[in-house]
Amino acid sequence: MENTLEKERENSMGIMEYETVALDDEAGAVVIIDQTLLPGRTELIRLKTAQEIWDAIYLLKVRGAPAIGVAAAFGIYVLAKQADTEDYDTFYNEFTKQKDYLNSARPTAVNLSWALNRMDDVCRNNRDMPVSELKRRLKEEAAAIKEEDIWVCRKIGEYGLGLVKPGDGILTHCNAGQLATCKYGTATAPIYLGQERGYGFRVFADETRPLLQGARLTAYELLSSGVDVTLICDNMSAAVMKNGWIQAVFVGCDRVAANGDTANKIGTSVVAAVAKQYHVPFYVCAPTSTIDRSAKTGDDICIEQRPAEEVTKMWYREPMAPEGVKVYNPAFDVTDHELITAIVTEYGVARAPYEESLAEIFGRKGK
Ligand code: MRU
Repeated sequence: MENTLEKERENSMGIMEYETVALDDEAGAVVIIDQTLLPGRTELIRLKTAQEIWDAIYLLKVRGAPAIGVAAAFGIYVLAKQADTEDYDTFYNEFTKQKDYLNSARPTAVNLSWALNRMDDVCRNNRDMPVSELKRRLKEEAAAIKEEDIWVCRKIGEYGLGLVKPGDGILTHCNAGQLATCKYGTATAPIYLGQERGYGFRVFADETRPLLQGARLTAYELLSSGVDVTLICDNMSAAVMKNGWIQAVFVGCDRVAANGDTANKIGTSVVAAVAKQYHVPFYVCAPTSTIDRSAKTGDDICIEQRPAEEVTKMWYREPMAPEGVKVYNPAFDVTDHELITAIVTEYGVARAPYEESLAEIFGRKGK
């Protein structure tokens, strides 16, 4: 009965009213929207085991760097809560195993290890505490990571909005929207803030082959929010820029190196190169949690390779490639810092040389 009521309530909600990631503490579960079913069906799923959480991240049921971080933080809390011991060493041993396992789900978005390391710090800094109290602290830390994400996205929106003007055409790639974060998104934050303030942007969303995050998620979010959005195929960005329809590109990121090289969804670097050709500013929206200064350049970023079927079969009624053909399917590419006009963070806008400007951003953050 309760489930039926929940389903009915869900059916009458718009996609922007859902929380991308939430905690159901009573049920001991992380609650996410299964993003692989969007836009056709909106289904919430509850993740309770390490395997379920790992699968949800690997299979992109929850995806986008900040959302992955929040899901992992709630996930490790849910798993830690299940530990039936009051002995710190036994507890921490199990915690470390679960943490390493979750961390192996996807390699490129640094937010995954960043969030898990924050949770790990809570354990290591409070080893004298009773385990029950430690569990409470872990829950608070996961909730703080989520709250901070909302604040960070809003700030990125404010700084990003200062880079464009009413009526501008904006192009975005993949989904760095609300569904990739806890609210506002990163690349979409200036768009949503502009929408609140009557800026009347015209947005172009790349469909984003092979997993179609742009078509399935970004176009869906923006359309549901009343934004003027036009969906284009990935090979159309040059055409719309040549037409003069785009005044700025905003994209998200999965890991930014110290020199500004940026890993983001495959195809991003093509858009950056085209933007340079047509003198369109190319902005990377980056929470500082996505900036990994231990990676000196893009060469230090591990790029995830994904199954061939995503290219050859997925989304088609019949396979669209000859059986047995070799497939190269990197999930991300690195945009060279020379192609990036600016990196928009929650502490301000960084411009080249990025080693210096990003260091200054972290100085403002206080770490
Ligand atoms: O494979 P995905 O869908 O997780 O890739 C997502 C992206 O590349 C996003 O642009 C990035 O994570 C930033 S989300 C604010």
